[in-house]
Amino acid sequence: MLMASKSFNCRSMLVKIPLALIFFLSIWIQGSDAQFEDYCIADNQASEDELVNAMRWACSNGADCSAIQDYQNCYFPNTTKDHASYAFNSYYQNMKHSGASCYFTAAAILTGLDPSHDSCKFVYIP
Ligand SMILES: *[C@@H]1O[C@H](CO)[C@@H](O)[C@H](O)[C@H]1NC(C)=O
Repeated sequence: MLMASKSFNCRSMLVKIPLALIFFLSIWIQGSDAQFEDYCIADNQASEDELVNAMRWACSNGADCSAIQDYQNCYFPNTTKDHASYAFNSYYQNMKHSGASCYFTAAAILTGLDPSHDSCKFVYIP
């Protein structure tokens, strides 16, 4: 009886392991679908002035720039490029369904990598 129940468990494990693998594989495949997220950030080629001007424009035309204000979640790193990236992305996510693009007179580029760090969350709106 003991032998029979052992071999039964063994067989059921042989079925369960591949099923579990298929299950986790399907989650992984679904997860990678979500990696077509696009974020709008500052282009490395853009000058400080271009970034400042474009950031000001974004912050008064649909971006939520509260997180880059003094000591808020996205204030550090305290650089123009980081702040501009946050503002560009917020503008782009909020406005892309109304036809906005990630351009900012060529001061911005799209990336598939989530720029979020620490408590600074870059939004992605599907
Ligand atoms: C942030 O950067 C600006 C401009 O470089 C500087 O004036 C300010 O002191 C910095 N703030 C902190 C808290 O480091």
